[in-house]
Amino acid sequence: MSKICVIGTGYVGLVTGACFADLGNEVTCLDVDQSRIERLKQGIMPIYEPGLEQLVAQNVRAGRLAFTTDYRQALDGAEFAFIAVGTPSGVDGEADLQYVRMAAEAIADIAKGHIIIVNKSTVPVGTGDWVTDIIRKRRNGTRPLLHFSVVSNPEFLREGSAINDFMYPDRVVLGSTDRQAASKVAELYVTLRCPILITDLRTAEMIKYASNAFLATRISFINEIANICEELGADVQEVALGMGYDKRIGPAFLDAGLGWGGSCFPKDVKALAHMAVLHGTQPQLLQAVMEINRNQRRRVVYKLRKALNSLDEKVIGILGLSFKPNTDDIREAPAIDLIHLLQNEGAIIKAYDPQAMENARQVLKRVKLCETPYEVAQDADALVLATEWNEFKQLDFERIYQLMRQPIIMDGRNLWNPEPLRSIGFTYFGVGRGTNNHILNNNQP
Ligand code: UDX
Repeated sequence: MSKICVIGTGYVGLVTGACFADLGNEVTCLDVDQSRIERLKQGIMPIYEPGLEQLVAQNVRAGRLAFTTDYRQALDGAEFAFIAVGTPSGVDGEADLQYVRMAAEAIADIAKGHIIIVNKSTVPVGTGDWVTDIIRKRRNGTRPLLHFSVVSNPEFLREGSAINDFMYPDRVVLGSTDRQAASKVAELYVTLRCPILITDLRTAEMIKYASNAFLATRISFINEIANICEELGADVQEVALGMGYDKRIGPAFLDAGLGWGGSCFPKDVKALAHMAVLHGTQPQLLQAVMEINRNQRRRVVYKLRKALNSLDEKVIGILGLSFKPNTDDIREAPAIDLIHLLQNEGAIIKAYDPQAMENARQVLKRVKLCETPYEVAQDADALVLATEWNEFKQLDFERIYQLMRQPIIMDGRNLWNPEPLRSIGFTYFGVGRGTNNHILNNNQP
């Protein structure tokens, strides 16, 4: 059993703290946001993450998990201090490290004896050294001496499956100049029985960025293939299936659609490209990956404009606002970008999401937020699926057909089978869902 302090109670910090507590450690989660800590003490989660509310409750009840805004309380006797604060994008796409600095300074001011500081936040390559300098300078030999080490331990948690991803990781990555400190952090994960890679600080930090950038690249790749499929009449879902049987490629992360969003990919790809440019290399591929992703939203607007002749005054229904299913997070969500693009052309927007309505209400203007998908469809000239929530899989399309003003469906996540919808009378657009009919008819490439 270890005594752990986790600084930051976003989905990474909260899931990390609750899971370490569930593994038998004594964990104190700290946040500077008083109201967030108050709600956590009442068992109210700041985010929708499947299973988190119950995991937190059972560990608080067991006396292994506590919440505070007081660094003294959080660091008292702690062997590890995990920094899991936000690193949002700055104006040029660089990672904003102000919250990491604040956490490092607080640790320097308050920690005593020996502590291992673990960077869990996604931070630019070199941040581990930067944190070390901050603490060293801040303590600069004042009594009592603080013996500390810094370890990079990037997270690979997906929103919506974060607890599962913590408890069943593909790997744990640790980086430090102090291998002994890294080994001590490794002991926290040993019961998870997964590969544990111990490397240096910069390499560990780069593994995180390279992993996220590669996943984003896969998605932009299949989206570019989808766009080519549309012109050539191939079906990208079958293409992805055929590709995925190759063990070197694998089936995951080959779903064409509106592209990627969320609090990680956009920020991390931008930050990596920024690091590259800052150090004199041209990240051509990363720039293209980001451009293709932006373009996926625009292509949907183009298709809708073509199908409706003009978007001005047209009623467009949006199903799904969160950046992916099983989360209420709308940060950089494709649906939000799409709504702004459609509104710029005079479209009137109605929208519904199973979980993200509260967050959407904060950021969306002039959007009719509905209670059900059917209310969204009522009098709509087109219906767009932006997030593939399970509850959208088996909608009553006969009823939707009757409700809509024009039977146009834009399936932004290739969730539905086109044929049954077309047989009801819908004009169905997917992403890369070419049909084989043109080959059957004229046999020309
Ligand atoms: C991601 C990484 O997966 C995770 O390892 C890292 O720690 C944090 O960033 P997350 O952003 O929560 O996790 O979601 P993820 O499931 O990766 O999806 C990211 C975006 O890509 C979503 O908008 C999703 O809709 C989109 N996506 C995903 C696709 O468009 N196609 C796919 O095939 C997969």
